[in-house]
Amino acid sequence: MRSILVINPKGGCGKTTIATNLAGYYASHGKSVLLADFDQQASSLDWLAVRPESFPEIQGVAAFEEKFRAGKNIDVLIMDAPAGLHGRPISDLLRRAETIIMPVLPSPLDMRAASRFIENLKKINKVIKAEVKLTAVANRVREHTIAGNELNEYLSRVKLPDGKKLPFMTVLRASQNYIRAAEKGLSIFEFAPYATQVDRDQWKPLLRWLNSTRSRP
Ligand SMILES: Nc1ncnc2c1ncn2[C@@H]1O[C@H](COP(=O)(O)OP(=O)(O)O)[C@@H](O)[C@H]1O
Ligand SMILES: [Mg+2]
Repeated sequence: MRSILVINPKGGCGKTTIATNLAGYYASHGKSVLLADFDQQASSLDWLAVRPESFPEIQGVAAFEEKFRAGKNIDVLIMDAPAGLHGRPISDLLRRAETIIMPVLPSPLDMRAASRFIENLKKINKVIKAEVKLTAVANRVREHTIAGNELNEYLSRVKLPDGKKLPFMTVLRASQNYIRAAEKGLSIFEFAPYATQVDRDQWKPLLRWLNSTRSRP
């Protein structure tokens, strides 16, 4: 089973957006997906609740209130983390993860919060031993903006505990397609291709990485 954790203690950076779109991507490629919502706000579960029956089923679990085990039939476990998570609960979430995706917004405050979070991650044994693979996603980026460029530069410079660079290959634009997808219980991969081509293209490097051994310990 593939297990992917989408995490960043900062609220509103795109955790649920990335978790639900990944869930839709894998489901539409015939995978059996379990979407574990660790956030009391249950936005991922709300998304699942409005998902049309005509689209591939995705299982959901209210991980913020119930213990769960992913069944043997599950191909991909996607974990949507809550905001404001610190210390021990982070280690608990990390225990299940083989890959971590950290969305970051192009704002000085978000970048500072991301740095702090990365520094904390680097103290966790599993990260030090590279038993979990990390990547960052620059999210809601407007092209040719100073904030967007600064975020790119910042994320390109981040180092892992082993001194190697943090893999950073994904910049997602701010797009109404994500809002429409959130409303409808769909992923951008489940709309007509012409409507979401630019966004799909932006996901390609991330998906290639996720589907390769480079994203697994
Ligand atoms: N790339 C994007 N383009 C447009 N809207 C986005 C994008 N990413 C996230 N959003 C919107 O921003 C808000 C916060 O995103 P969300 O995924 O819920 O963040 P988090 O789960 O980290 O709190 C949501 O309304 C979501 O639809
Ligand atoms: Mg969320």
